[in-house]
Amino acid sequence: MQLKLDNCTIVIFGAHSDLAARKLFPSLYELALWGHLPDEYRIIGVGRSALSHEEFRSKVHEKMASLFPETLVDEAAFALFSARLFYVRVDFARREDYPALHKELMEGAPEAATCHNLLFYLATPPALAPVIVRNLDHAGLGEKDGSSGSWRKIIVEKPYGSNLQTARELNTVIGEVFHEERIFRIDHYLGKETVQNIMVFRFSNGIFEPLWNRQNIAHVTITIAEKFGIRDRGAFYEEAGLLRDIMQNHALQLLASVAMEPPVDFSADAVRDEKAKLLRSIRPVTPRSVGGAVVLGQYEGYRSEKNVAPNSTVETFAAIKFFIDNWRWKDVPFFVKAGKNLAETVTEIVITFKCPPQNYFGPAESCCYTANQVILRIQPEETIAIKFGAKRPGEALITDPVFMKFDYKTSFTEAGMTPYHRLLLDAMAGDQMNFIRQDSVEYSWAIIDAIREAVGMQTPESYPEHSWGPQSVQFIYG
Ligand code: BG6
Repeated sequence: MQLKLDNCTIVIFGAHSDLAARKLFPSLYELALWGHLPDEYRIIGVGRSALSHEEFRSKVHEKMASLFPETLVDEAAFALFSARLFYVRVDFARREDYPALHKELMEGAPEAATCHNLLFYLATPPALAPVIVRNLDHAGLGEKDGSSGSWRKIIVEKPYGSNLQTARELNTVIGEVFHEERIFRIDHYLGKETVQNIMVFRFSNGIFEPLWNRQNIAHVTITIAEKFGIRDRGAFYEEAGLLRDIMQNHALQLLASVAMEPPVDFSADAVRDEKAKLLRSIRPVTPRSVGGAVVLGQYEGYRSEKNVAPNSTVETFAAIKFFIDNWRWKDVPFFVKAGKNLAETVTEIVITFKCPPQNYFGPAESCCYTANQVILRIQPEETIAIKFGAKRPGEALITDPVFMKFDYKTSFTEAGMTPYHRLLLDAMAGDQMNFIRQDSVEYSWAIIDAIREAVGMQTPESYPEHSWGPQSVQFIYG
């Protein structure tokens, strides 16, 4: 059943950003097309250039037509959506610019109910978040200024801060203006159907969870590989690097989902309690352990990308061996690998079980050849496979690995929503289950900061484009 959402105004800071063009406007347009948005809504783009509402609408249309012509199936529907789009010029750091936004929000709409519920979306670089929040507060647009009966919420894009200290500062600033229940730290991975399914797979089936522990599992590998490079995001990558861009959030969230304890119930906080607890149990990498635990890489050709320094030491690849110091996982290695310009685009989690105690069928190595695995493929195929050994037909008792497979596409016919569709709706509805809580953000940064500190000034190892990363990755798997 579709939830009836409160009327609201969505205010997008960074209205000209790549994220807004590629994800936010197309998702909002499609939600409108499918009738998922509230009866009354407005979307206000906020950016530095001076544009009229009409010019802004044309820009959004132009971008969508060039990026997603197939999405713009219905021009008449776009015209209806477009009539709800408005624009306010604000230099984010200039306090004096915010009253214009306040005026548009309070007086710009004919329907009073539309403007009093406000959802701010910060599609801006992390360093701008604190100043925007302070300025919103100063302009009387913070949550505590909301008139009774209306709400104000804020969605903040990843990376949330750029290390533990800046994340804490940001948490403090935002916490002074919005209550934690109204802060939505987005990691779009959590909006993916297959990521949400990890917990369903684990906790709605009786047969896996009893085996999901150090007694039965040899190791877990998590791979987030992309065949493409940094695209046109040189400036961002030079600031962020892969550890901040992907490890701190997407990779650690996958790790938390696959390794967390069962929550007491499926409420947002019960689930997030368990994730936070898991992240807190990850053993920190230290200068002593870093050698056998972390390999950073940079693809050949990265330094010639646009807006990248010719002697850049930024990593575009990381492979990390994590351990989780708790009763369930003690000493089970979690190999987490992510990188740009790798051999394939694939995100998957492979849980490899221990070999049987006796090997009857073939040479000693063969039991590892057929070691049982659960393979949760997040993308591009959305599948779950279970690997086991089966007798090869013929006289001899020889085992071969075979797979039982579930595929979303063949088992379900409903069209799934994309992460941004889902997460935008969740934020409007106030459901925080798939957003990251303050404590988890901080635990994740502590993990990444420790790695960065332990690695120090080491230059990442170079790797050929479309390979599986630097050669020394094999040493951490040893
Ligand atoms: C983003 C990262 O958060 O996620 C990108 O900034 C990465 O570097 C992207 O490519 C991957 O997301 P998806 O959903 O396209 O796999």
